[in-house]
Amino acid sequence: MLNYSFLNINYNDKLVRNHFLKIVLPNAFQNKMFENSNVLAVKHSATQDPLIEHLNQHLMSNFGTPPISAYCLFYFTAPLPIHLDGHGNLPVTRANLNLPLSGWEGNLMNYYTENPGYVTPKALPNGRTFCDPNQVTLCDQFETTDDWVLVRADRPHNITNMDFNNPRITLSIKFKDNPSFEHLYKCLVGEPLSV
Ligand SMILES: [Fe+2]
Repeated sequence: MLNYSFLNINYNDKLVRNHFLKIVLPNAFQNKMFENSNVLAVKHSATQDPLIEHLNQHLMSNFGTPPISAYCLFYFTAPLPIHLDGHGNLPVTRANLNLPLSGWEGNLMNYYTENPGYVTPKALPNGRTFCDPNQVTLCDQFETTDDWVLVRADRPHNITNMDFNNPRITLSIKFKDNPSFEHLYKCLVGEPLSV
C-alpha cells in the first residue's frame, strides 16, 4: 500500500515558508495560540488566511481537489507517539497534504501495520488517537524533504529522528469531506493509484 507521494503542485513554496515562518508562527507564539506544550499546533479554518485561500483556488482549478477545509501548523518539541490523525468525535482524517517548512532534515516518517489482536484506539479528549506500540509493526519509512507530500493519515504512523534544537515545523492541509488518499492522489498526481 502506498502511504505517501511527493508532489509537484507548481506553487511558490518560498512564499508559503515566508508567510508561515515569519508571520503566522511568531503571531501564534505571541498570542499563545498553541494547543499544548508537547506538539504545538495551530488550527484554522481555510478562510482565515489569504494565502491558504489562494492555494485553495490554485489546487481546485489546476488539480480538481475538494476545497481545503482546515490547516494546521505543527511545531514539534518532543517525540510524537504512534497515532492516527484523530479529531475527537470526528472521523479520523484519511489523508493530508503537507509542506515541511523547517527542521525536516533527517526526519523519518514511519508507517506501521496492525498486529493480530490490534484494537483501534479511541480518540483522547484532546483529539489525539494514540496506538499501542505493542500492537503494531513498522512496515514503511521515508526520509522527509522540503517537498509537498501527500500522506496517509488513517494508518498508524509517527515521525522520528527529529532534532528538537531545530524543531520540525510543518504546514498540514485537510480537505472538505475527508477525501481518501486515493482520491487526492488521483487529483494531485493526475492518474489513478495503481495497486
Ligand atoms: Fe499524524
